Amino acid sequence: MDEGLFAAVDAFIGETIVVEDEALRGAVAAAEAAGLPAIQVSPPQGRLLQLLVRLVGAKRILEFGTLGGYSAILMARALPQDGRLVTLEARPEYAEVARRSIDAAGVGERVEIRVGPALEALPDLEDEKAGPFDLVFIDADKVNTPNYFAWALDRTRPGGLIVADNVVRDGTLADAADPDEATRAQRRLHETLRNEPRVSATTVQTVGVKGYDGFLVALVEPA
Ligand code: SAH
Ligand code: DHB
Ligand code: MG
Repeated sequence: MDEGLFAAVDAFIGETIVVEDEALRGAVAAAEAAGLPAIQVSPPQGRLLQLLVRLVGAKRILEFGTLGGYSAILMARALPQDGRLVTLEARPEYAEVARRSIDAAGVGERVEIRVGPALEALPDLEDEKAGPFDLVFIDADKVNTPNYFAWALDRTRPGGLIVADNVVRDGTLADAADPDEATRAQRRLHETLRNEPRVSATTVQTVGVKGYDGFLVALVEPA
């Protein structure tokens, strides 16, 4: 595989149809300066998220895994003025960086960051009747992707989308013997969806600046 070539193509896409503005470059720089890992969605992937937000006419978004706020800024920008995004982040120091970048990008009033392990934040969201959601982006700890998906499925409106990042994992998704718990979780999620009439789903393999991975997109069907 040619990681250099994948990155070069992402760079070309980034110079042509998906050019980052000052706020996005600032968010990446702030995250790097604070020592956060550079694992945010790539610009082309981020643009796809924005298109999906707009295609479903999303007004309520839930994100698992904020990091430095890069994907949150993108999705919040694709929301209408009265749209809202709740994003869940386990690490307070990451959430602080994200808060500043999200505010600096001008979408602060649309975005709420909840700090703590996502599974612990879900009962509160339930109590507050935060859903139903129009789009859920699952991008936190990968071992819990099936748990987040199951929760989201009950709380995403028909016609809404659930997107899960990092399900292909260098192709290990296809390896039934892979012992990695994160990979096993993605296999389990796929196997669950075999018999799940409530969604129509696919997984798209990706290459790019982040190497070889892929995302799952699930459209929630009417009851
Ligand atoms: N969506 C971000 C990238 C998220 S990276 C973007 O594209 O810009 C994954 C994030 O999930 C990290 O910030 C990590 O701290 C967070 N995370 C890990 N385990 C978590 C958990 N149990 N609950 C919430 N967030 C978690
Ligand atoms: C990691 C997390 C991500 O969400 C991603 O897109 C790439 C890598 C990670 O935890 O290493
Ligand atoms: Mg990811």
